[in-house]
Amino acid sequence: MKDILTLGIESSCDETSIAVVKNGREILSNVINSQIKIHEKFGGVVPEIASRNHIEAISNVMEQALKEANISYDDIDNIACTYGPGLVGALLVGVSYAKGLSYALNKPLTGTNHIEGHIAANYITHKELKPPFICLIISGGHTHLVHIKDYDKFEILGKTRDDAIGEAFDKVARVIGLGYPGGPKVDKLAKEGIPNIELPKTHMEGLDFSFSGVKTSIINLYHKNPDINKADLCASFEKYVTEILINNTMKASKELKLNTIALAGGVSANSYIRENFMELKEKGYKIYYPEPILCTDNAAMIASAGYYRFISGVTSNLELNAVPNLKIGNNNQ
Ligand code: KG4
Ligand code: ZN
Repeated sequence: MKDILTLGIESSCDETSIAVVKNGREILSNVINSQIKIHEKFGGVVPEIASRNHIEAISNVMEQALKEANISYDDIDNIACTYGPGLVGALLVGVSYAKGLSYALNKPLTGTNHIEGHIAANYITHKELKPPFICLIISGGHTHLVHIKDYDKFEILGKTRDDAIGEAFDKVARVIGLGYPGGPKVDKLAKEGIPNIELPKTHMEGLDFSFSGVKTSIINLYHKNPDINKADLCASFEKYVTEILINNTMKASKELKLNTIALAGGVSANSYIRENFMELKEKGYKIYYPEPILCTDNAAMIASAGYYRFISGVTSNLELNAVPNLKIGNNNQ
């Protein structure tokens, strides 16, 4: 069978990324231009600044992606771009660029869901991984527990009722003065601490999550006692959220009788969360997560998800638009 080269384009938040992926699983290039340094001084992503920087970066990122993959425009078989969820202005840069390329090169276009991209990052790291499995997507914008029935069939089992887990990490870090983006900083500091601070539990029915309660508890604790040991606070926060993530994932696993579990999204780069999920291997679970560079936003994961949509016969036309609140598994385009 002929190899299929997918060009992936990602611009949903603050990373402008373009990748070339072979047969959905093998990265030929994955260029990521991060705007973190630009947004750092504002303590978070500023949407208008993100859009402008995507526009400035995208052509150079494209050139580099082709060069690193050692291919020309002609070699591309299909173009996959993120069309949601994300920041509308940021998404529009990638979607418009992808539509322009598709028209000029006369190549098929496949609008791709960013969250499905995070799931697909696992296909790149783990060549043997195939549906069905359970995926826990934990990122700056999302906290979803999903049953991956097939490459293009998803059922949401649980999701956050309030903050995404990455948002909680970022907020805690900001309040205690660690800076942005907070996740990696909390991760690092927590290693020096002991999880000895009791945090009140929020009870949730079913498989949903809630992180605003714990976030507020940490903020209150810190404001009441600014000399509190920050490392212990970070360690306690990580322990608290990890227990919730593991409990819900185990419940889902029991209900579905499925013991293959994948993690995805920026927060799955967290070392404490990873270690604790890896310990489940001793109980017979198969645990997967993408290599760290594929956990946070990148275009290789979009190319992989787009490839599976493309080979299942889904393509978009030039009316494809950005859908900021696009739901997983709901890919009307
Ligand atoms: O997947 P991602 O790049 O963007 C979204 O789609 O949201 O995730 C970014 C999020 C941020 O909240 C960041 O703080 C968090 O992932 N993150 C981490 C770690 N690395 C990134 N959170 C905890 N520990 C980490 N090591
Ligand atoms: Zn993401």
